[in-house]
Amino acid sequence: MAENNIVLAFDAYGTLLSTESIAQKLAEHFGQEKATTIATEWRKYQLEYTWRLNSMNKYEPFTDVTRKSLQHAIFEADVTLTDSQIQDLMTAYNSLHVFPDVPPLFTHLRQSPQYHPVVFSNGTAAMINTSLTQSPDLSPHAGLFRQVVVVEPVERFKPDPLVYQHLCEKVGKKGDEGSVWLVSGNPFDVVGANAVGLRTCWVDRGGRGWGDRLAGGPTVVVSGLDRVLETVGAFLEGLK
Ligand code: LAC
Repeated sequence: MAENNIVLAFDAYGTLLSTESIAQKLAEHFGQEKATTIATEWRKYQLEYTWRLNSMNKYEPFTDVTRKSLQHAIFEADVTLTDSQIQDLMTAYNSLHVFPDVPPLFTHLRQSPQYHPVVFSNGTAAMINTSLTQSPDLSPHAGLFRQVVVVEPVERFKPDPLVYQHLCEKVGKKGDEGSVWLVSGNPFDVVGANAVGLRTCWVDRGGRGWGDRLAGGPTVVVSGLDRVLETVGAFLEGLK
């Protein structure tokens, strides 16, 4: 990586990949309305489990967290699925759709070699690499990401400072955290990265503005990933 390269670390779930798209798969079992509720609860428990594990100083791979949180969401909804139906949903989780603003990002990245795009996720290396090779939306562009950085080696989840420090180390920017940008649709991820000195780009697809009240809002806000490169570029120009 050239020394002045700016790292753009893209969060996976909820930023590149839409976890809501799993509702379509759940709808095959429960109908649209219940499926949407279960998909939302699944995501909620998935994140809650990661934070609880961090608090307890314990670690389980994100695959297990994802399966267990699905089982919890199904239990709460008072419905059942067989083991093989759960396995099918887990398989579908590895080929989630990208958000509609992602394809223009790929075009921009192709035209902007000064950036060093990486994927940075709570997901296991196996999950992310499967998505990169099997997601029909993502796989043709997977080569644009120069690295995949996952939290597995540190056995902590976002927003533990160790995972952002691990990212900086993996991209060769230890001690130069300010040249690493976290791009994420997840406010808790943005606040976590800010706390370690990274710059942050929050993807506000809902257009509702920043609501998180912990210290450490985003450096810049975009309405979709199609605006990331021009917004980060304009911010960096303004510093000159
Ligand atoms: C990830 C979680 C935050 O991809 O969605 O890291």
